[in-house]
Amino acid sequence: MAFIVTENCIQCKHTDCVEVCPVDCFYEGPNFLVIHPDECIDCALCEPECPVDAIYSEDELPKGQEPFIEINAELAEEWPNIAEKKDPLPDADEWDGKSGKIDKLER
Ligand code: SF4
Ligand code: F3S
Repeated sequence: MAFIVTENCIQCKHTDCVEVCPVDCFYEGPNFLVIHPDECIDCALCEPECPVDAIYSEDELPKGQEPFIEINAELAEEWPNIAEKKDPLPDADEWDGKSGKIDKLER
């Protein structure tokens, strides 16, 4: 079991989550972050930190977010680690809550 970054992170990328992770298991792409499922220790610290509620435990994923289990596992192997907060993407507020953001995911 692990925590999963889901669709609402795309085009937002607030990065508040990375600061609290005790094992630094976040990885950063152009417009999305992922959690490495084998490194996450299930501490749940990151979940309440995300301003757009994009992080969920794998067993509490909202309906439709299941593809992000595989997306997190796959991209965590490809993207570089991120352990310090940075500015969110410029249009983060505009994109919060939009549906269909999975089509915008840049790899
Ligand atoms: Fe890191 Fe804990 Fe969040 Fe897993 S649940 S990503 S270990 S902060
Ligand atoms: Fe993304 Fe939320 Fe972290 S928008 S970068 S999961 S704080």
